[in-house]
Amino acid sequence: MIAFQDPLKQLPVRASTFAADVDGLYYFCVWVSIASFALILGLIVVSAIRDRRKREDQEPTSRVTHNTMLEVVWTLIPTVILMVIFAWGWRGQLDMAVAPGDALQYRATASMWKWDFFHPGENTPVDELYVPLNKPVKFTLDSRDVLHAFFVPAFRAKRDVVPGRYQTLWFQATRPSPQDGFWLFCAEYCGDGHSLMRKRVHVVGDADFAGRPWAKLPEEPAARGEIFWRRNCSACHTVDGSTATGPTFKGLWGREETMSDGSKVAVDETYVRESIRNPQAKIVKGYESAVMTPFPVDTLPDDQVGDIIEYLKTLKP
Ligand code: CUA
Repeated sequence: MIAFQDPLKQLPVRASTFAADVDGLYYFCVWVSIASFALILGLIVVSAIRDRRKREDQEPTSRVTHNTMLEVVWTLIPTVILMVIFAWGWRGQLDMAVAPGDALQYRATASMWKWDFFHPGENTPVDELYVPLNKPVKFTLDSRDVLHAFFVPAFRAKRDVVPGRYQTLWFQATRPSPQDGFWLFCAEYCGDGHSLMRKRVHVVGDADFAGRPWAKLPEEPAARGEIFWRRNCSACHTVDGSTATGPTFKGLWGREETMSDGSKVAVDETYVRESIRNPQAKIVKGYESAVMTPFPVDTLPDDQVGDIIEYLKTLKP
């Protein structure tokens, strides 16, 4: 592995064992491109000046049609450069393809438009990731609907998430994350909410990791409700008043909504619970084409629905 600095200040922080090698190859390509650009453009400019027609009656002088040496040189050098890029990329690809045997096993499921992350040995999905420092971790990725992609720039780790098959990816984090973590993106355009599939990855020491920080919930019901909203509802319901697939939650509590059949319904506990368990029972006018998947008790227990209701109450118009 060749460690390159980042002289052009283009790259995100390096936080995995892959980063130095990926950046080295990236900079190799950048320097080759800059050198080729300068060489080719320089030759064009020099010959345009030196060999320009200098008098009106000047005849073309060069009778050269072929130069074998020149042809060999300008074929061979780029070929060698391309082979270097290929070999370098291939070796890196192999490193990334094969996870160490002792890697911690994570799962991640993508769907429009959220991530469900499962920490090793756990069955409760969360939407913030925690990985231990200096330990290899492996992800098994799958999608419930369309193509997505799992991408953490700081780790130089990226994999398509493909419906109907399992993809894998591994990395080993080499530095603790900042307070609010590294960004994880969906890197494959997957529809309206693509940009909402943006999450946090925290890299923590062994002691913190053993405390299962991903499972910690706040004491305050509305604060827990916000977490459950983010996990379950945020793909379709905003809290800032902007329009998405479903009605916004901002100012929803206590409001009188007009249904598609013209009737009016006041938004209270009963209405919210019914809309979660059986979304088709009452459809808000204007949202007839938006079909919401019901959340049964085993995916969203009643106490979590209660917390979401407490959170709704805080979202004043
Ligand atoms: Cu999922 Cu873009």
